[in-house]
Amino acid sequence: MSLLSVKDLAVRYGDLIGVGAVTLAVEAGQIVALLGANGAGKTTTLNAIAGLVPPAGGQILWQGKPIQGLPAHQIVSRGIALSPEGWRLFTGQSVEANLRLGATRLADRKQLPHRLDHVFTLFPRLAERRRQQAGTMSGGERQMLALGRALMSAPKLLLLDEPSLGLAPAVVEQVFATLLRLKAEGLTLLLAEQSAELALEVADRAYVLQTGATVLSGTGAELAGNAEVRRAYLGG
Ligand SMILES: Nc1ncnc2c1ncn2[C@@H]1O[C@H](COP(=O)(O)OP(=O)(O)O)[C@@H](O)[C@H]1O
Ligand SMILES: [Mg+2]
Repeated sequence: MSLLSVKDLAVRYGDLIGVGAVTLAVEAGQIVALLGANGAGKTTTLNAIAGLVPPAGGQILWQGKPIQGLPAHQIVSRGIALSPEGWRLFTGQSVEANLRLGATRLADRKQLPHRLDHVFTLFPRLAERRRQQAGTMSGGERQMLALGRALMSAPKLLLLDEPSLGLAPAVVEQVFATLLRLKAEGLTLLLAEQSAELALEVADRAYVLQTGATVLSGTGAELAGNAEVRRAYLGG
């Protein structure tokens, strides 16, 4: 049984189709990449899994049980956390306050200090800046804070929407190194990325979305070697 399995997911925004037929599976311990051009449906897919938009059709199975249509807080409680596109931080609040908000659904409150320690160990920069306002941080630091906030709920699966967007190449390298470290600690990741190159380097498996449907899938290496993928996403 896959940790997460999405079958024929459809999401509508009024009369508009967000996604029409997304199918994917995520096995425990993997990094899975969701690739596709702007507007392909990556964010919609992640938001539907996280319970932020209601599916109009299809199935989302978590550890074999349907979760589609559950409210977001129940999905967080089951072990799925989202680090959203554009980070959605409370910019007027401190780094630590933002992290604590990520733990709102942590069932065992005694775990909170341990989760904070874990995030501060992963990102020493956040520890140094714990009292600083989130809005005064650099792009890379904000991405780390968004990741750290998602990790505060002690997820089994981390959904990451465009972690490299707007970041300098050196910072992107750091972010991806962190993702590999999280994988080594046993976390499972589903990562939406417009820039396919790095995503395919770290991904065990990848899916390509086109206008709201899954059109290709394979191992990271298979897709990196696929002529169509190279032409569309890798500039080759
Ligand atoms: N809030 C919204 N209202 C209406 N249409 C939307 C909304 N969000 C996304 N869409 C549409 O849904 C489709 C998928 O978008 P999105 O999931 O954001 O793609 P991606 O993340 O791959 O860029 C696009 O056609 C987009 O215009
Ligand atoms: Mg998006």
